[in-house]
Amino acid sequence: MAKQEDQFKKVISHAKEYGYIFQSSEIYDGLSAVYDYAQNGVELKRNIREYWWKAMVQMHENIVGIDAAILMHPTTWKASGHVDAFNDPLIDNKDSKKRYRADVLIEDYCAKIEAKIEKEVEKAAKRFGEAFDKEQFLATNPRVKANQEKINTILSRMGKSLEKEDLADIKALIEELEIADPLTGSKNWTDVKQFNLMFGTQIGASAENATQVYLRPETAQGIFVNFLNVQKTGRMKIPFGIAQIGKAFRNEIVARQFIFRMREFEQMEMQFFIKPGTQKKWYEQWKQTRLQWHLSLGMGRDNYRFHDHEKLAHYADAAADIEFKFPFGFKELEGIHSRTDFDLSQHEQFSGKKLQYFDAEEQKSYVPYVVETSIGLDRMFLAVFANSLQEETLENGNTRTVLKIPAVLAPTKAAVLPLVKKDGLPDIARKIVDELKWNFSVTYDEKDAVGRRYRRQDAAGTPFCITVDHDTLTDNTVTIRYRDTMEQKRVKIEDLNSIIEQEVAMKNWLKDQ
Ligand code: GAP
Repeated sequence: MAKQEDQFKKVISHAKEYGYIFQSSEIYDGLSAVYDYAQNGVELKRNIREYWWKAMVQMHENIVGIDAAILMHPTTWKASGHVDAFNDPLIDNKDSKKRYRADVLIEDYCAKIEAKIEKEVEKAAKRFGEAFDKEQFLATNPRVKANQEKINTILSRMGKSLEKEDLADIKALIEELEIADPLTGSKNWTDVKQFNLMFGTQIGASAENATQVYLRPETAQGIFVNFLNVQKTGRMKIPFGIAQIGKAFRNEIVARQFIFRMREFEQMEMQFFIKPGTQKKWYEQWKQTRLQWHLSLGMGRDNYRFHDHEKLAHYADAAADIEFKFPFGFKELEGIHSRTDFDLSQHEQFSGKKLQYFDAEEQKSYVPYVVETSIGLDRMFLAVFANSLQEETLENGNTRTVLKIPAVLAPTKAAVLPLVKKDGLPDIARKIVDELKWNFSVTYDEKDAVGRRYRRQDAAGTPFCITVDHDTLTDNTVTIRYRDTMEQKRVKIEDLNSIIEQEVAMKNWLKDQ
């Protein structure tokens, strides 16, 4: 646990030191759970956005994008169920006066049991060496099985109680498990209460005429209310999808874990409209398609797992998370939800407008069913950044800090370095920058010894360094150094463009999906 916390602290400080993420309004001591993306962060975020958009919209003939407004008619949120049901169960500690999400306290308790299981697995893997079969061990070791059963029982009871809104049982569970305030150890709890997560604001010049509106808590509703507009103007045939990337806002109470849970964040969502009755097939298909998208980045199959929901949201008939191994354990990165016809039917009812599709093959109209894929852009950023930050011990015993961001997403693709600041080398390096910058984000760096510059670029996540030296003057070649392997090759200046293109082209990363 302490090792995980240390690693997470390193992630946060590295993100600041290398210009990825700053606390919002830092000079005023910050605003809790709100963050700003800095000069490198904004590029990484833009690249993730583009990687998603290309895979989801550009590569699917039957998916189009929109960009709906953040403010929507307030009835939207009545219809979607957010006014009545978008709540978190909260509990206060009477001694510390601290407020917690009751479900998170219980989940954290389970995470500790899970950490014990992982320790057992690690120990066994060491003991059995190559012969170790993890699946078999998990299925047969009595201690591991008992702990897993304990987790399942707790989460299942919590899921059922939350579904029934039995908040008294949630409190009883916290007391039975003897869960204490993580800060003070006190077990003196209040009852559990529901708290709505939407941020409200007002439109209108005077208090009497003001209309209560909300900052959208998800981008999905902007898609639903535009379903028929897009279908008709785009002459879309079912099955088809509408995708959107944009800001969402939630008044999160347990706002912690850096950019994992923010109050202002960005979602990348796609609603796939289908014929009723086909939802199971599409749900399974989108689960696999989205997992493949993650795997295409090469961040390790073992870092992902599915978590099928016990407790379903008010709109879903099936739901799963793609979980990622963050520095604080496996947590939700993306959700895939089979939303039935709930949203469109609700909007029909509340707006009094038909939101139906005429199926020419079936010769009838119906309200389509929907399978949704929904991923937090900031959470994806954290997954990439945290997984990329590594400390390596080199052959000579030195350590190097390297940010192995997949080259396709790296904020700066190449740094061009003149070996020395004289003999015309800077001029050649500048010329290379001027040529490459048409296609890639590149940087020029001439300060300090070249070894230190390599380290600086390693830590900033730049996948290629191009060094101009005295041989360049006579043979027009340069050294290209690869961040991940530190391998160096001599190449012609005129080939640089195609060498880098090969390594960073989205096509080459996505095509194996
Ligand atoms: N439209 C469905 C929906 O909004 P969700 O599970 O509440 O479902 C989808 O959110 C994704 O949005 C999550 O998997 C997560 O990646 C991201 N997300 C949700 N709340 C967040 C928050 N407070 N901060 C950062 N990302 C968040």
